[in-house]
Amino acid sequence: MGEKQILSYIETAIIARENAYAKYSNFKVGAIVVDENNNIYKGVNVENGSYGLSNCAERSAVFSGISNGMKKIKVICIVADTKEPVSPCGACRQVIREFSNNETIIILANLNKDYKLYTIEELLPYAFKL
Ligand code: THU
Repeated sequence: MGEKQILSYIETAIIARENAYAKYSNFKVGAIVVDENNNIYKGVNVENGSYGLSNCAERSAVFSGISNGMKKIKVICIVADTKEPVSPCGACRQVIREFSNNETIIILANLNKDYKLYTIEELLPYAFKL
């Protein structure tokens, strides 16, 4: 994947992030997943007054993709306003793994468009598998 494509995904995730509902933490996160047909599904963190019910952006994006017929994640891009590219939580790594393979490209980024590319094996080695 070229630099131009990576930056385009980051820009789309940054725009998606604007819809984040982060009333309690004020920490907005945006994510997009891209499937094998290049369909793009957006997700944001959606918090709740009952804090534990809050949902992360990357899980929102993955659940949207699956709800709309996605089978595998080709690319997932996650952005937040962090100094370094944002690091996804452990629960989301497990959810991403469920729909990933060795070719899945995980783009972690921040609002400056600094980014790092990972595979799911790098982010979640020795993962739980049924
Ligand atoms: N959050 C995400 O959306 N993704 C992550 O990987 C880590 C945390 C959200 C959850 C909560 O709404 C806010 O960031 C602060 O934890």
